[in-house]
Amino acid sequence: MSLRFIFAFFLGGLYLASLTACSESAPPKVAGADARVAALVEQMSLELKVAQMLQGEIKHVSPSDVREYGLGSVLNGGGSFPRGEKLASLDAWTELADAYYHASVDTSAGNAGIPIIWGTDAVHGHNNVIGATLFPHNIGLGAANDPELVGRIAAATAQEVKATGIDWIFAPTIAVAKDPRWGRTYESFSSDTKRVAQFAAPIVAQMQEQGLVATAKHFIGDGGTFRGVDQGDTRLPLEELLSVHGAGYFEAIDAGVMSVMASFNSWNGDKIHGNKELLTDVLKDRMGFEGFVVTDWNGIGQVAGCTNDNCAQAINAGVDMVMAPEDWKSLHANIVAQVRSGEISEARIDDAVTRILKVKEAIGLLDRASPSETAALYKASVGSEEHRALAREAVRKSIVMLKNKSGLVPLDPRETYLVTGPGADDIGMQAGGWTISWQGTGNSNSDFPGATSLLDGFERQVEAAGGAVLTTQDYKEGTNPDAVIYVFGETPYAEGVGDVETLAWQQRSRQDLRNIQAYKQAGHQVIAIFLSGRPLWVNAEINASDAFLAAWLPGSEGEGVADVLLRDREGQVQYPFVGRLPMPWPRFDLNKDNHDQAVVEEAFPIGYGLTAAEDADINDLPEAAVGVLTTEDEVLFEGSIREPWMIYLGDQLDPALAAGPSSARSASGNLVLTLIDKNVQEDARRLVWGADGVSTTVYFGRGQAWDATGLSDVGGAILFTARRHGDVSNDLQLVTQCGPSCGASVGLYSALARVPDGDWVQFALPMDCLQKLGLRMSSVTSPFGLRSAGAMTLDVAQVAVMEKVPGQAAIIECERVID
Ligand code: BGC
Ligand code: BGC
Repeated sequence: MSLRFIFAFFLGGLYLASLTACSESAPPKVAGADARVAALVEQMSLELKVAQMLQGEIKHVSPSDVREYGLGSVLNGGGSFPRGEKLASLDAWTELADAYYHASVDTSAGNAGIPIIWGTDAVHGHNNVIGATLFPHNIGLGAANDPELVGRIAAATAQEVKATGIDWIFAPTIAVAKDPRWGRTYESFSSDTKRVAQFAAPIVAQMQEQGLVATAKHFIGDGGTFRGVDQGDTRLPLEELLSVHGAGYFEAIDAGVMSVMASFNSWNGDKIHGNKELLTDVLKDRMGFEGFVVTDWNGIGQVAGCTNDNCAQAINAGVDMVMAPEDWKSLHANIVAQVRSGEISEARIDDAVTRILKVKEAIGLLDRASPSETAALYKASVGSEEHRALAREAVRKSIVMLKNKSGLVPLDPRETYLVTGPGADDIGMQAGGWTISWQGTGNSNSDFPGATSLLDGFERQVEAAGGAVLTTQDYKEGTNPDAVIYVFGETPYAEGVGDVETLAWQQRSRQDLRNIQAYKQAGHQVIAIFLSGRPLWVNAEINASDAFLAAWLPGSEGEGVADVLLRDREGQVQYPFVGRLPMPWPRFDLNKDNHDQAVVEEAFPIGYGLTAAEDADINDLPEAAVGVLTTEDEVLFEGSIREPWMIYLGDQLDPALAAGPSSARSASGNLVLTLIDKNVQEDARRLVWGADGVSTTVYFGRGQAWDATGLSDVGGAILFTARRHGDVSNDLQLVTQCGPSCGASVGLYSALARVPDGDWVQFALPMDCLQKLGLRMSSVTSPFGLRSAGAMTLDVAQVAVMEKVPGQAAIIECERVID
């Protein structure tokens, strides 16, 4: 521990002690009637009250907006940083917090002088901040099954959040994930209600004891949607909805949780954001929730008849604060008008504002100093040794060993190991979604100062014990390690982007299975480590390896894996395996009899997990898929850009684009790409070509050429969904490439000019057209790009190469472009 740290920690302790001394009991709770808050509400104009109820996103809220409107709250979304800088320093965070704060208490423009509250998604540590400690995602903590440990993690996370001047955390997620096809399964602790519920109170208590607001989310039934579809429909009678998905909320409310986030999903066909029965009658009246209800990101816009900036129904249903990242100004005007017209009662507004102000009062926000002053006391906690040690402890407690032939694991560190596989040295992959960027993509190891990859952890321990670690580069034919540690698994995703239709792992490429088998054939023992946000169907990979460990998404402290996998230098077990499955591990890729239902047949039940040196040779799990066999279809862009594809702008890969800034400009300056929403967040791109006449291309490419012969042979097509705004440039073309001077292009003017302005249309270009025009199918480097020299605006959503052309797609005529 550095001196500086000790000193800051000491000050932090003093500060905390003084906080606790003047408040009666910790953690703070929202009080009943409150004269101070009542007096504030009384003197506020309708405009100021409505502004208290709004939360904009930092990209769309300036300090002067705050001064002018008296805005109640801001958030930074996943992958949104002060000044848009991914590498923003702690000072940059607190500077922005200060700027908002000072604007909120500056009454010169007529606001009520109420300090603003800033919320963030610190869901596995303060995951938007460079250098923060990243803890295992909730699914791993569910495997560790230790509420006390999880409480310590919540406290540590809260301290790191305090270091940035932020007051409010959008966690814990207390979803009960029932179907691992759901992309947010890793945000859930378990598929078991009780297991989930036991974490709610310790997290809420620890966060709020640090003087922050915690959020129980997403109310209610987010983990119970039909087929595990994100933002889908949860079909249950009320009492079952409450008993299965509500238990954690009772615990959180008991612990005094100050905010609850409404869920995107529907309940029996009806969006929860507009549901009074759930938000008011059940949550506030029956369950006794006294804090405030915040919406999810543009959640009101999904209510039937509503838009992102207009939804009286949501306010009437019981929403107190609206997360309206971009459109908060027009939403403000609409709510004010709806109160004036009587569509929303002023009493409802007063109730909402009272709830918000009571929370602000309860955490001491009404009497706070500049955010940076308090933050300074916590700075040294960000990525501190203590927090990293805690994260590492959580990692080793979360690992679940599924198979261990002849008690192979734990291994002797004095031997020689090959540590390889796509996840061996990739901190972004081991951290998963909600890591620096929203999707967790676009990061490299250098974005994680102070963190340790799995490989780093093995190297440190094996080398210290006198053994040796070989990496992929060291391995040639004839190399003879004592065993191979093969790390593989899911690449990062968040929310609906992570939804899958089948649990089958790599049903098409089988790359990892082939790698494991190759090492086996070369005579090595293979220990497979699987990084994933959920249980997946990996029977063949389990059968093929000698030992198999589910490591979930461990976060920044990869050495926790070596802690359990390796013995100490005396040959003793260092740490026992205490991780146990928090969800059943599937026996089949889908439910054998009914694909609409969550997996019920189990290869390993909930609670399963081997202890160190326990001998379990499992090699007869069924390998034949029962679900629909996936096709050859190659998806490039659906919700997000799909690995291994990347988007290139103006002939240059812009890696920053993947990391999440909301727009980028080509080197030529002529083309600007912006992330926009079609059905869900950031699932479309807007392309604006300027008028300077420089021909500029945007295209999808990948490191290695791709063999599209299979798709072309079966009569496949390139599909994309697009919408034009105004005129189409007459030189617009779809370009494909098969190397530096190999490719084919087709004119798009007639196809696009024909469709109505502003309508989304799906287009298809048959592969045989491109083949005729010269695209070499065996080595496609880019199957889709758009090029124009003329000015125009085009929005693009899904892009894929598919076996079958959907009936509704508009077929593009095969016209060669004459240059
Ligand atoms: C995420 C945000 C993210 C945004 C992108 C939301 O769903 O929660 O944090 O930045 O989508 O549009
Ligand atoms: C997510 C929430 C998150 C919010 C703010 C939403 O898309 O569903 O979990 O708190 O965005 O980033």
